[in-house]
Amino acid sequence: MLKSFPENVFLDGVFAPCEAEFNLDDLQVIGTIPTELNGTFYRNGPNPEYVYSKNYHMYEGDGMIHAMSFENGRVSYQNRWIRTERFLAQRKAGKALFGGMRDRMARAPDAGAISHNTANTNVLWHHDRLLALNEGGLPLVMDPQSLETLALTDFNPVLDRSMSAHPKIDPKTGEMLFYSYLSPNMDFVYFITDAQGQITHRETLTLPFLSLLHDFAITKHFTIIPIFPLTLDYKRFMQGGSILKWEPERRAHFAILPRYGKNEDIIFFEDEPCLCMHTVNAFEQGDELILDMVGMHDVPEGIEAFVDDELYLPNHLVRWTFNLKTRQLKKQKRDSMNMEFPRIDERFTGRPYRHTYLASSLHIEKPNAFDSITHFDAVNQHKIVHYLGENAIPLEPIFVPKSADAKEGEGFVLFYVYCKQERRSDLMILDAQNVAGDPLAIIQLPHAVPFGFHGCWVENKKGVH
Ligand SMILES: [Fe+2]
Repeated sequence: MLKSFPENVFLDGVFAPCEAEFNLDDLQVIGTIPTELNGTFYRNGPNPEYVYSKNYHMYEGDGMIHAMSFENGRVSYQNRWIRTERFLAQRKAGKALFGGMRDRMARAPDAGAISHNTANTNVLWHHDRLLALNEGGLPLVMDPQSLETLALTDFNPVLDRSMSAHPKIDPKTGEMLFYSYLSPNMDFVYFITDAQGQITHRETLTLPFLSLLHDFAITKHFTIIPIFPLTLDYKRFMQGGSILKWEPERRAHFAILPRYGKNEDIIFFEDEPCLCMHTVNAFEQGDELILDMVGMHDVPEGIEAFVDDELYLPNHLVRWTFNLKTRQLKKQKRDSMNMEFPRIDERFTGRPYRHTYLASSLHIEKPNAFDSITHFDAVNQHKIVHYLGENAIPLEPIFVPKSADAKEGEGFVLFYVYCKQERRSDLMILDAQNVAGDPLAIIQLPHAVPFGFHGCWVENKKGVH
């Protein structure tokens, strides 16, 4: 059983941690599960077993994987805490050993040299491995069937530093691109592995400054690293300042380099300050690169860090166009609705694409609160909204193609929905070509899947089952 937690917005309601690990195969299903769904929807998010203090922030909870597996219209579910060093040490101690940003990264004496990596941010499938990621630590390899935590990543050569939480996988080549920047060295290292997990490119890049570099983008030939002025500074932190600080005078920058480029190949673009957390996609169009993101267009001057749980800053779809010939950029706001957690048909990562699925807010204006799922058509700049009602909070949707050769957007949108009154969750399945229509199926869980971050779909044929 969980210990009693301090009063904190990130430990209540949709954020309240799931208290136990379950294996369930007799779930109530409303509607019919499409027989084309044969695979597992893995999802990661913070789920603290112990909490250090009332200053807890959702970015800092132990990672928990939720796995909903489908086979020929049947479904089963399981969830497991990720057995990080930190999780195991805290469980052994029977108490929290690690404070977060708002505790100035305090550590209990018995934490020793243990990594504070929670592995709580993303989960993805690459080189036949299920990887749990947090951008401040090494990825952990999970058993895709039992969800047992197996080991630290087994890239070749062994990765010797933290890995960003939003790697990009080229759907044609299987290459995985990522970077590492959360290090007291205050440097930025760019990596590429081949489809087998062999590191084929490693390059230290010189950026104008370090900041929260949560996500980036690839096209067929280029890599785009957005640098927004929420600066990151370990030295400032050691001197008593804030680890993250909004410094709009530093403006926004975009480092663009060829996929296997060197530091000297970077072309920089500069723009007005803003803050975007997540990339939708990017692609090439003649001399231009197009980058779609979701973000806070207008960040109020003076916010010290975006960890303020009271601050509501709506995120909008935004498109940058970079002309590599003229070195000009354009920025365009694509829609005025508050949307986050964008996902696409990932067979089109880095290529011209049309369809995005997001969690969105139709009627509410509160931080981290959504009430709808939106399908945005990037070609016609048109959106379709599935409103879920005031009792429901949807989490990040993922897209699953109907078949390997289905056309873009032909498939299903899967997401968890937190039911406020019942304090439990459903998994909802929508027809991606009719997002506003009735759900195809609703799978009812007896417990809640708390607000979390990112997930992935893994087909059975990839050897999982
Ligand atoms: Fe993220």
